[in-house]
Amino acid sequence: MQACWQATPNIAVIKYWGKRDDRLNLPTNSSISVTMDDSLKTVTTVRFGKDLLEDRLILNGKEANPEELGRAVRVLDAVRKAAKIKYKAEVISENNFPTAAGIASSASGFAALACAAADAAGLDATTKQLSIFARLGSGSAARSVIGGFVEWKAGKKKDGSDSYAVQIAPASHWPSLRNIVAIVNPEKKEIGSAKAMQITAKTSPLYPARLKMLPKAAEMMKDAIRRKDLEKFLELTMRESSNLHAVMLDSFPPIIYLNDISRRIMRQVHEFNLQKGKICAGYTFDAGPNAHIYTEEKYQKEIEAIISEIPGVLKTIVCRPGDGPKKLS
Ligand code: PMV
Repeated sequence: MQACWQATPNIAVIKYWGKRDDRLNLPTNSSISVTMDDSLKTVTTVRFGKDLLEDRLILNGKEANPEELGRAVRVLDAVRKAAKIKYKAEVISENNFPTAAGIASSASGFAALACAAADAAGLDATTKQLSIFARLGSGSAARSVIGGFVEWKAGKKKDGSDSYAVQIAPASHWPSLRNIVAIVNPEKKEIGSAKAMQITAKTSPLYPARLKMLPKAAEMMKDAIRRKDLEKFLELTMRESSNLHAVMLDSFPPIIYLNDISRRIMRQVHEFNLQKGKICAGYTFDAGPNAHIYTEEKYQKEIEAIISEIPGVLKTIVCRPGDGPKKLS
């Protein structure tokens, strides 16, 4: 009863921010993302065993803290219930990138856990089931169980049975798309996304306006993806990122993830687009100062050079659209 799976991060272009149920991680709005290739990845092994007295999680070689273990147990419990087994599990999970750098490690981590646990439990799980299992660990992980371009449908049901991810298009639909990840020096410790989105939902007067405009933005985004309309895709991506960080700043106390380096990257991207006379690159930021710059292969080298020169940019990593989780032997 053992299985090993790899999963990769996804970077949202229509972001999830706000929950209608904190325990089940049910979102207030539907979101859209691109699952990345394995330039960044989590590899997770799960073993269920009669000999195990407690669930255990080893994360990057260290015993996980109670909060991390608790989230993993939620996923394991859901898998055990579906597979009708009672065995405890031993989970060993490794990221090939720094967990603390805030580059969607929870998405790849919980997607890999959902796939490995379901497989180890002998469950012939559907993608929908896997997405729901992963969601229980971290909302954004619901999207990482699928490759390519993905929509996580918010759903309406109280039990969350209609809140899972579906594919908009496979990675092969737009293979020339790139995501240049710029790892930025953080200035101070960030507030976790779970707590931060609660504060926004409770206190931001602009947040209801965001929720009202998102369904239309999501439709336009899906249309831009289907037509591979780079300019529209990038404009919508940048506008959505700024809208998210605007409602964060509108929260009380304000939630501030972007720093001077992030803002410098934003300016440089606009400068680049101005020089080219069209939109060739577009940034997006999650709950941290690191930038994800979407572009196409033909502009990759130029963008990388410009971004790497910015003081405070520690490293750039180039990702392509990826095929989703994979079983390892
Ligand atoms: O990964 P979570 O469930 O903590 O949520 C993070 C949400 C964002 O990354 C900020 C946006 C998104 O949709 O991925």
